Amino acid sequence: MVKTKVAVLASGDGSNFEALVNATRAGSLHAEIVGLITNRAGVGVLSRAERLKVPSATLARAQFSSPEEWNIAIRDQLKKWQAEWIILAGYTGLIGATILAAFPNRVVNSHPSLLPKFGGKGMYGDKVHAAVLQAKELETGITVHLLNERFDEGPIVAQTKVAIEANDTAESLAERVKSRERLFYPTVLQDLLTGRIKTR
Ligand code: GRF
Repeated sequence: MVKTKVAVLASGDGSNFEALVNATRAGSLHAEIVGLITNRAGVGVLSRAERLKVPSATLARAQFSSPEEWNIAIRDQLKKWQAEWIILAGYTGLIGATILAAFPNRVVNSHPSLLPKFGGKGMYGDKVHAAVLQAKELETGITVHLLNERFDEGPIVAQTKVAIEANDTAESLAERVKSRERLFYPTVLQDLLTGRIKTR
């Protein structure tokens, strides 16, 4: 069976990126990761890509004269790799209409909270976990959703809950969520790619 070609966009440490690559190589995620795009030079995910021998491209906003030019460059790179699905794994850049139109219903994100709670512009990384603790929530979780032009508001594909412990800090909570995410995200993606979860 031909493997679905997927590209990953990430901006940080890349532990989820590595988990996705490992899942494809172990066969639990029936896909080929054709490339990694990051918007930040020198981030951990780039060294992981190099070590795992996944092609990568760094396309930062500052290299382009407008958000549109930037998005066109990203779209063109994704097309060059013949990516069919676009997987966001801790990506902080803007995904505009140009990219969304090229991959309708094929851009997926994992957000580290139970959306619609703790989503929206500026809610990423430890800021999410700090806000969850500040609000004295009893539980948090992970939401896998399709992307549309409004941050964190695309259709929800799957969610899972993660417990909050009494002496959690934003860092300890982030680590618990991420370790769950590294198993959950590839599993949900396998269901999406095989059509077991329908996108419309
Ligand atoms: C993940 O929790 C992801 O959901 C969030 O940022 C984190 C990325 O971590 N948006 P890593 O870079 O994969 O280690």
